[in-house]
Amino acid sequence: MLAVRARLIVLASGAGTLLQALLDAQTDPAYPAEVVAVLSDRPDAAALGRAGRHGVPVDVVALPDFADREAWDRELGEKAAAHRPDLVVLAGFMKILSREFLHRFPGQVINTHPGLLPAFPGAHAVRDALNAGVSVTGASVIWVDEGIDTGEVIAHVEVSLLAADDEDSLHERIKVVEREMLVRVIAELVGEQNYSTSNPGA
Ligand code: GAR
Repeated sequence: MLAVRARLIVLASGAGTLLQALLDAQTDPAYPAEVVAVLSDRPDAAALGRAGRHGVPVDVVALPDFADREAWDRELGEKAAAHRPDLVVLAGFMKILSREFLHRFPGQVINTHPGLLPAFPGAHAVRDALNAGVSVTGASVIWVDEGIDTGEVIAHVEVSLLAADDEDSLHERIKVVEREMLVRVIAELVGEQNYSTSNPGA
């Protein structure tokens, strides 16, 4: 019997190297999850090209195209739900999702963040860690709740700072271990569930 792979939707705003790690992982038939769609709030996100090259459907839901944030968020939820995700993965998605969006996917939304949460939440975690003078920072995968990077931590990975680090070099080194962590954590999470019941048609 063929194993049913968990259905991932990835939300990404930027370069999409975390997405790429998942796309690469799923070329192994033994990997227990696959990206079934990529959604972005930015039409110029390089993540969209990465998805396209792997034959993964993409959609852009850009805030300026909507009358207000509620309408944008609702459309994002509609687009995501249409792909029947088991997990919604925020991988460099630089917008806050509403309570309504999260209630639509209870216990199914994870985020990866370039800092050791609960330290340094928000959009500038790498810069904030550098400015604070810490010797160790890292990355976290969390369950998304209604706060900004306040959800339960699923996994951490540490990265030591080097004397020569600037924000870009440190972020690049964090992303190397962050990618490995995301691929591993998703495999572990979906391994704990039985997706054949949530996706009988998959
Ligand atoms: C990652 O470091 C991710 O944790 C971060 O953006 C980067 C995306 O990299 N996300 C946030 O800061 C969210 N607050 P990528 O575009 O190369 O995948």
